[in-house]
Formats: sequence, structure tokens, C-alpha cells
Amino acid sequence: MPFHTFKALKKITAKPDRELLQACKDEEFDQLFPASISALSLCHWSPVNVCRTAAQFLVTAPGTRVLDIGCGPGKFCVIGATSTAGHFTGVEQRKRLVRTASELVERHRIPRVEFQHGNINQVQFREFDAFYLFNPFQENVMPALRIDYDVELEPKLYTDYTAHVQQQLMRMPMATRVASYCGDDSEIPSCYACEKTAFTGKLKLWVKKHPAPAYATAAESYAQDNGRAIPLGTGPLALA
Ligand SMILES: C[S@@+](CC[C@H](N)C(=O)[O-])C[C@H]1O[C@@H](n2cnc3c(N)ncnc32)[C@H](O)[C@@H]1O
Repeated sequence: MPFHTFKALKKITAKPDRELLQACKDEEFDQLFPASISALSLCHWSPVNVCRTAAQFLVTAPGTRVLDIGCGPGKFCVIGATSTAGHFTGVEQRKRLVRTASELVERHRIPRVEFQHGNINQVQFREFDAFYLFNPFQENVMPALRIDYDVELEPKLYTDYTAHVQQQLMRMPMATRVASYCGDDSEIPSCYACEKTAFTGKLKLWVKKHPAPAYATAAESYAQDNGRAIPLGTGPLALA
């Protein structure tokens, strides 16, 4: 093959996957996903550099257990696990996104990552040390953001899921860390304070600085004593 042809071929040949996993550019990293899922990246998946910085905000020791609340195809978890010593779990309500995320991790044997198909309202936050969220529930109130028709969307779900995350975060131990990207931070309880920002204030690190308000602990023990959960979005913890 003439040298110039070889050079031209090299230019258009895609980078090997192991290089894409370390990529700093989203248009490179996103090639790891099927085209239909990478097409959603700009609007729905966190940028690579945001994932790396957020993971560094959250992982304070080897093995820190991080939960991505609504993980999509796993971009934050995969980048977190390949750039820190934390353990990353993603929970996602859409089966096809969980399948894509799991295939990526299996194909590259990426350690310290797992994905669960399910709804965040079934997850016990106490099993984790730190949390990441990028506008997980916005689709329910902004129809233009709808990813697909695989799940039910409605404004009431936004209120219910936000209340669930708020309640769970309230009950976490002092010094618990949460990183939020974009959004209005309505999931973050007032006992957390914003300690650091990056990306012109769009990425925030929150740390639990104050005990949960008395009504939150009273509601928790009421639920435990009665062997049932408090209905979401109702009762003393409902959002105004
Ligand atoms: C904006 S995307 C963010 C994805 C990923 N965290 C990231 O930063 O790249 C929000 C994701 O949350 C998921 N989601 C929304 N509500 C959920 C719920 N109640 N339980 C689990 N996943 C949910 C959506 O399906 C969507 O994939």
C-alpha cells in the first residue's frame, strides 16, 4: 500500500476503545455507545470532564460507594471508576440504557462498576456514601426533554421522586457528599451546604453540615414503627 494511502486510512480509522475510555472529548467517548444513544449525549449525558471532576469531588477514599441517581447508559459511572478508586453503582429506570451500560462494562472488564435496572424510589441510600445527580427527573415537567416512550412521565412523578431523594439525603450521616450538575437543586435538603463549584457554577459539591430537621427523623421512626414507608410526595415531607 502506498504510504500516502496508509496515512489517509490511519486518519479516518476510529481510535481503539481503550483510548476512547480515556478520552477528554465527548465526541470520542460517546463513540463507545450505539449511535442512537450517543445522539442523546449533548442533552442527556454528563460531559466527560464534568464526570471526572464530579467523581473526584465524591471519592474521598478508596472504595467510596457512589450512587448515580438515574445513570442513563452509565457514562458517569464508567468514567468515575476509570479515573478514581471509588465503587460506582448506577440505577436506571430504562432497561435498554441499563443493557448498554452493562455491555460496555463487560466488554472492557471495567472493575468497580455495577448497574441496576429499577426506580430510584426503591433504593435505600444508606447503602452508599456519596451521590451524583444530573437533572434526573426533569423530563417529567419538560416534555421537550423526553428521551423515549419506554417509561411513564408526568409532573406528579417529578414531585414524588424529588421528595424521595430529599428524604433519603436528609437521613444520611453528617459529611455525606452529593454532586449535582445543572438543574435547580430542589433535591438537595437544606441541611446540606454547597462547598465547591466548577464549570462556572454548573457542577456543585454539597456536604451535609447540619442534622436532619426533627420532623424528618420523627417521620422515619413512625414509618419504621408501623412497618411501612410514608407515601411519596405526601405527609410531613411533601414538597411545597
Ligand atoms: C439527564 S439523564 C442523566 C444520566 C447520567 N446520570 C449522566 O449524568 O450521564 C437522567 C436519567 O435518569 C433516569 N431516570 C429518571 N427518573 C428515574 C427514576 N425515577 N429512577 C431511575 N432512573 C430515572 C432517566 O431515564 C435518564 O436516563
